Amino acid sequence: METTTINEGNVKIKIPVFDKVSSKAPVFYNPVMEFNRDISVLALQAFSKKQKENINICDAFGGSGVRGIRYAKEIPGVNNVVITDLNPLAVEFSRSNILENGLSNVEVCRKDANIFLRSCRGKFHVVDIDPFGTPSPHIESAAVSLKAGGMLCVTATDTSALCGTYKEPCIRKYGAMPLKTEYCHEVGLRILAGFISRTFAKYKKYTTPLFSHSSEHYLRMYLETGKGAGKTDKSLKNLGYIVHCSKCLYRNIYSGITPRLSYECPECGGPLSIGGPLWLGDILNTGYINDMMDLLPSLTLNDDKKLFRLLERCHEESKGPVTFYDLHKICKVLKISAPPIYDVLEKLKSEGYFASRTHIKPTGIRTNAPIDELKKIILLIK
Ligand SMILES: C[S@@+](CC[C@H](N)C(=O)[O-])C[C@H]1O[C@@H](n2cnc3c(N)ncnc32)[C@H](O)[C@@H]1O
Ligand SMILES: [Zn+2]
Repeated sequence: METTTINEGNVKIKIPVFDKVSSKAPVFYNPVMEFNRDISVLALQAFSKKQKENINICDAFGGSGVRGIRYAKEIPGVNNVVITDLNPLAVEFSRSNILENGLSNVEVCRKDANIFLRSCRGKFHVVDIDPFGTPSPHIESAAVSLKAGGMLCVTATDTSALCGTYKEPCIRKYGAMPLKTEYCHEVGLRILAGFISRTFAKYKKYTTPLFSHSSEHYLRMYLETGKGAGKTDKSLKNLGYIVHCSKCLYRNIYSGITPRLSYECPECGGPLSIGGPLWLGDILNTGYINDMMDLLPSLTLNDDKKLFRLLERCHEESKGPVTFYDLHKICKVLKISAPPIYDVLEKLKSEGYFASRTHIKPTGIRTNAPIDELKKIILLIK
């Protein structure tokens, strides 16, 4: 079999040569996901640094082993990494990649992720769920296998469901209604976080998002877990709904599982679309982003500038409200051309509002200004 060698972070990974990135490749490796893995190494470093003991990690969908191997090699304070994958060739390549990288604290097993995780009750400090498509069938097994205080890392590539291109799959997989809006990727992250918190709650466990991002074709989240019925009940109060008017771009949030929702837009009388249940609490933790930014210079990455830009933008928006506006969409409604985004942000701040950009959309404005105020400000600048 013809092979090729990839350099990522501090590791070298051998994989069979493939024509295109596909789930049908003999061993799955996606170069686009290097960025995802870079962030993961950084996020896990920040997590590991705060632990009192060396950590055990499960990379439950290992592929070539690149992720688990990078975790073992690049994160100080790792006791053990277990990589699982169903594909026998992936397991074979992972094994030889572990040897090639001189690691003795990584093991590989050919097991179904759910079966394996279920058999490891409370064993892991970190569980990484990085499957093809939806992570939803694997969240409950991860909940079982994580220690209290552990961290769950999840990738979702089923953005067409989470972000509202197709409603039915989102309802099926996440028990939630998506919202096809300019901030649909944020809604996707919030639906995912809400689904995770509801799934963990069955075990009297709660989850607190530390970091999340929408990049390329996927969504990624890092959540800290804790245990206790009371704390779980309190955490579930972060669930709720977003209502949105696609005519005038008004939006509002409603907390609780059964809030009294409004179906008519108070601004223009148009119909309101409803998204949820979803997580209305923070999905970006400012302190955790600070920790990641502090650690970033110590990492060896192929593109650390891209990662720094993402962290900077996430840091800026982490204190902002739920949902953001899209400058171009507002200007389309107003039938005007868009003013410079910087001017709008400055004007909002000078009027006493929170205002930041968002990593999700280059033309996005995250602000607590109501839509009519924002429209007034944009018209004033024009
Ligand atoms: C998206 S790839 C993982 C990529 C890898 N984490 C990385 O960063 O390069 C998904 C992997 O999950 C494996 N897989 C699919 N179903 C599985 C299951 N039920 N249990 C364990 N592994 C599974 C596939 O063979 C594939 O290698
Ligand atoms: Zn309206």
